[in-house]
Amino acid sequence: MAFDGKVNILVIGGGMICEEATLPAIFQQRKQGNVGSITIVSLNSAIIARLRKVFPNEDFVGVPDPATTPADKNIPDGYKECLKKLPKPGLVYVTTPDHLHTQMILDSVAAGHHVVSMKPLCLKVDEGRRIVAAARDAGAYVFTEYHKRLDRAIRGLRYRFRQGELGQPLYGHAWIEEPKYMPLDKFKAWAHNSSPFEYIGTHYVDAYYYVTGLMPKRVVGFGQKKYLPTVGSKAYDANQVCIEWEDGSVLWVQTSWVCADKNAKMTQQGMMVHFTKGEYKADHADRNCYFVTDEAGFQHYNPNFVKPFDDWNEEGVIDWRGYGIESNSRGILDVQHLYRQTEGLDEAAAKKKRQEILATWARMNTRALPENAMVGVAVNNAARMSFDAGGKFVTIDKDFNIAFE
Ligand SMILES: NC(=O)c1ccc[n+]([C@@H]2O[C@H](COP(=O)([O-])OP(=O)(O)OC[C@H]3O[C@@H](n4cnc5c(N)ncnc54)[C@H](O)[C@@H]3O)[C@@H](O)[C@H]2O)c1
Repeated sequence: MAFDGKVNILVIGGGMICEEATLPAIFQQRKQGNVGSITIVSLNSAIIARLRKVFPNEDFVGVPDPATTPADKNIPDGYKECLKKLPKPGLVYVTTPDHLHTQMILDSVAAGHHVVSMKPLCLKVDEGRRIVAAARDAGAYVFTEYHKRLDRAIRGLRYRFRQGELGQPLYGHAWIEEPKYMPLDKFKAWAHNSSPFEYIGTHYVDAYYYVTGLMPKRVVGFGQKKYLPTVGSKAYDANQVCIEWEDGSVLWVQTSWVCADKNAKMTQQGMMVHFTKGEYKADHADRNCYFVTDEAGFQHYNPNFVKPFDDWNEEGVIDWRGYGIESNSRGILDVQHLYRQTEGLDEAAAKKKRQEILATWARMNTRALPENAMVGVAVNNAARMSFDAGGKFVTIDKDFNIAFE
């Protein structure tokens, strides 16, 4: 049957990032004619009921169904049945906690679908290797949603660096820090399985690799547990990680999730890189744009990430914009491209063609395919070893083998 240009979507998860970025992007892509069916499967029906309230005008199949399933009945394997029912071309968005990504990605690929995973791809190198191998064998598209790659403030750095204007990198410094309500409320169930570095610091490790193409060589990390243990959490308050790259340049990434809850921005973040012929400095949260209201007080407003605007043509319709929307939409457009390029071919020829396209994209390192996302995975894995061991150096070789120095 001819490809009608529509990609069928299964979203696994339904939490914060799903509601704020993934679903707005998918619903908008549907308005633009690029999406067929949409199913959202979550841990329990209360999450589906909430999403119905948040998106009252959007049509989707919700699993488990709130009409027939008690709100608090958890069904962790419910996604498996949904994978079987997802029509081809199928694209699965994995928006569950970090430590659950691997099995869901592998199951999706095994069911013949393509995948968009929230970052990080996974937490361990051996899991990442399994994802790389499964995706390659199947010619499956597995995209890690490192949305900073779509931020023009970082794309511009990559472009000018690759034009040779900046010379060679010497050192960089990045910071990304969030409030206490993240580990204590939003991520209460899983914060101790991750850390502020693994959960969001990974963005800047990936950004440095995306800009420079360099591979990490050695990692040392530190962590503090002073505040969170006093309120019953086993998670780190803060982590700082220093990465030495293959050319001897060094990136320092500082992360925390114990900023003040009343912070005027949810995620304070930015980066500087010093090169032999110039430097780059950017605050990626403070875009010099503020609101003050009676209800919310002073708030930074970042128009670049994910923001609703009035649609140009239709009254009452939202036009979602920003690099978070572009990044969450990328998978739909890429899968569409893969299907268009392989239309009319038998499955063996189509798979070969997909493998060629995906290998080219991985070499270009524009989107984070699993081979590219492995850099973030390896640094996360090494950093966790380092800060759990009280700050020991960990080496990473070119095959992503990691070991204490
Ligand atoms: N790109 C970013 O900047 C960014 C920001 C936030 C989170 N994330 C990543 O996105 C992922 C999700 O984060 P979040 O903030 O939405 O977390 P969250 O805890 O708010 O949401 C996770 C959701 O997954 C659901 N879930 C858990 N187990 C499930 C299962 N077996 N089947 C179906 N659903 C299940 C939970 O019920 C919850 O609704 C994480 O990997 C996180 O690191 C990325």
